[in-house]
Amino acid sequence: MTRALDVIIFGATGFTGKYTVLHAVKLLSDLKWGIAGRSQQKLEAALQEMGAKAETDLSKIPIIVADVKDDSSLEKMTSQAKIIVNCCGPFRFYGEPVIKACIKSSTHYVDVTGEPQFMEKMQLEYNGLAKENEVYVVSACGFDSIPADLGTVFFEKTFDGQVNAIESFLRVKYIGPGTPEKGAALHYGTWESAVYGLAHAGELRELRSKLFKGRLPVIGPVMRGRKPYVGYPIEGKTVYCLPFPGADRSVVMRSQRLMYEEEQKPPVQHRNYFTVKSFFQVIILAITAALFALMTKFAFGRQLLLTYPKIFSFGAASHEGPPEHNMNNTQFTFLFMGNGWSEKSSDPSVRPNGDPVKTHVTKVTGVNPGYGATCVALLLSAVTILKESSLMPGKGGVLPPGYAFAKTSLIENLSKNGLTFELIPLYVCTAVGMSGALYYTLRLATRNPDVAWNRSQFSNEYYRNKQYKFYSPVRDYTNIDSPAPKYEE
Ligand SMILES: NC(=O)c1ccc[n+]([C@@H]2O[C@H](COP(=O)([O-])OP(=O)(O)OC[C@H]3O[C@@H](n4cnc5c(N)ncnc54)[C@H](OP(=O)(O)O)[C@@H]3O)[C@@H](O)[C@H]2O)c1
Repeated sequence: MTRALDVIIFGATGFTGKYTVLHAVKLLSDLKWGIAGRSQQKLEAALQEMGAKAETDLSKIPIIVADVKDDSSLEKMTSQAKIIVNCCGPFRFYGEPVIKACIKSSTHYVDVTGEPQFMEKMQLEYNGLAKENEVYVVSACGFDSIPADLGTVFFEKTFDGQVNAIESFLRVKYIGPGTPEKGAALHYGTWESAVYGLAHAGELRELRSKLFKGRLPVIGPVMRGRKPYVGYPIEGKTVYCLPFPGADRSVVMRSQRLMYEEEQKPPVQHRNYFTVKSFFQVIILAITAALFALMTKFAFGRQLLLTYPKIFSFGAASHEGPPEHNMNNTQFTFLFMGNGWSEKSSDPSVRPNGDPVKTHVTKVTGVNPGYGATCVALLLSAVTILKESSLMPGKGGVLPPGYAFAKTSLIENLSKNGLTFELIPLYVCTAVGMSGALYYTLRLATRNPDVAWNRSQFSNEYYRNKQYKFYSPVRDYTNIDSPAPKYEE
């Protein structure tokens, strides 16, 4: 394929697009790349803004004007590069014409969508054509859903045996310095995509009935979902687990299905959660999510959500997007915990002998999920297609990232660029568990009025105010009246 450029970043004037340009300065330094969008002026301004941030002169970066509503401009753009990096969303509105133009001009394609309907519709309608034209179309190459999908691949690769089930737990936290600046966590583009995505979630059932031949087999014991009202000890802390509402599960299960159908790998069960610290947060989030979902179902509700994003997201989404200080100091962790068998079965639909008692823990960590890790994962996915297509399945197709990149070096390259995939050795998990048990036993031995060796020294007041059995560090027990009997002096 001889083209003037290796990579074109389309939608380079948007919030995500601009940060992709910033990261391209380093990650695409050995490639010829350009930017595209619908306004020459805005594209020039984007280059100037990001050039200043990167302290690099970007004025020579080629600019291509293309509009999603003008097919010929899209084809003119796609025929100039080997791969298009698409940041134009919501993808349900802007994605399809770009994919069509890419397939027509035999140009590979990656994007940052987190919209399952869009991805599954593209797979249904364009997989055959993409294969025919030897074009890789890989969506969900951002925070949705590279950590989840390649995290599952990494878990399986490091398991040494056959995996039965994996749970992933997402935690996002501000890691300082100081306190976060005032501002949103998401840019409007993501909010808009979520509003329309949820409004049309009903389309998925019909799409899936056309796309998939029946249900995936479950090889081992069925993995039950976690209850949102129960606190679970995870990494030494009690947390509440809520099903993650994003695209991750749908992307992971598409990869699992392709691995099962094309490579006869037994599918793993997968559930993903995000974790919060208290049951109160669970209630607030459940009420907010229910209201949000209800509003997306009506045109008037959607209009309100889109016109007043700050109000209806309680400040989480805005047209200005998050402050850079907050983005750069927000860390995310996906913890993967799962079980399986030490032995692999030769038949993918037959369960290995015994119970899946072997356990395994891995982690994917990074900072700036929406506009840092996303841009890095997106660009490195594009580079992987350009440099390692011989390690990808077949010669093309509309594929999820886990299946597309499982045999490439993308995981290693991501790890070198701030998105780390790591194995948590069993001895670390055992040490954390044993430390907890030791702490609890020592606490009982020294503080529990019933069994402590020095209990005769405890005053009545100590005994009265002590809630020693189920200790919570955030509750003030001094205000809770103890039902314990009083000592007679
Ligand atoms: N997976 C992830 O983790 C992740 C993270 C971040 C973002 N995203 C997704 O990325 C998408 C973009 O989000 P964002 O916040 O960056 O949105 P945004 O700032 O509104 O950017 C949208 C881009 O689309 C362009 N565009 C709109 N209509 C167009 C047309 N007719 N022709 C050509 N270009 C057109 C806009 O160009 P103009 O500047 O000319 O209007 C702009 O460059 C969303 O779908 C979001 O969900 C995903």
